Amino acid sequence: MTGGVKKPGGGARALKIRLKTAKLRTKSSQLWLERQINDPYVRAAKSEGYRSRAAYKLKEMDDKHRFLKRGQSAVDLGAAPGGWTQVLVERLGEGRAIGVDIQEMDPIPGAALMHLDFMAAHAPDEIKRALKGPVDTVLSDMASPATGHRETDHLRVMALCETALEFAVEVLKPGGTFVCKVLRGGTERSLLETLKKRFTRVVHVKPPASRSDSAEMYVLAMGFR
Ligand SMILES: C[S@@+](CC[C@H](N)C(=O)[O-])C[C@H]1O[C@@H](n2cnc3c(N)ncnc32)[C@H](O)[C@@H]1O
Repeated sequence: MTGGVKKPGGGARALKIRLKTAKLRTKSSQLWLERQINDPYVRAAKSEGYRSRAAYKLKEMDDKHRFLKRGQSAVDLGAAPGGWTQVLVERLGEGRAIGVDIQEMDPIPGAALMHLDFMAAHAPDEIKRALKGPVDTVLSDMASPATGHRETDHLRVMALCETALEFAVEVLKPGGTFVCKVLRGGTERSLLETLKKRFTRVVHVKPPASRSDSAEMYVLAMGFR
């Protein structure tokens, strides 16, 4: 199945459900709940058995850029609750993906999971040992909890992305793909330079499933050399 989920507003107007205010709910939790209930990706994830609406971001990126091929291998950094890893099992086949997260995850049939802080000094070596050889794709959807302070959030995401890229450069097969979450405002110049040197094609993408009011986007680097 492709990643296409109909967003409201395209054709017939979607009916927006509004919740009655409940005494125990704050205004922000009320708005969050309303957004979840009215989000077509949340509904699709629930009915199609994905653990997160994020699954559709990977599906949409792959539907457009075609980097996941059956039989290939991948590492998914920042995998919890597991939507991207589920998509990897679907598209690559069983026994091809390793999901890594600082949070514990319920098992995903067909994938190996590692409960690790990727930023810990020993983590990259532990993952390499589990991989037993080079891989075709390294994905990172890692994100630290937002502080609301733009600069701090940007620096944190960039640190995760730089560390993920260092790891990718060590484990990718020639021709491999690296996908990493970054924030709008783009990728740091030095990171972009490294990406352009090491990959034949580098693009920034904002899949439709990524909320338009979120600063999140992805850098997609293909053709590792
Ligand atoms: C947006 S979520 C990922 C959603 C996931 N792609 C999915 O489809 O379900 C970001 C994840 O990054 C993880 N994360 C953040 N920092 C991390 C770190 N240092 N090591 C491992 N995971 C980390 C968080 O625990 C969180 O689960």
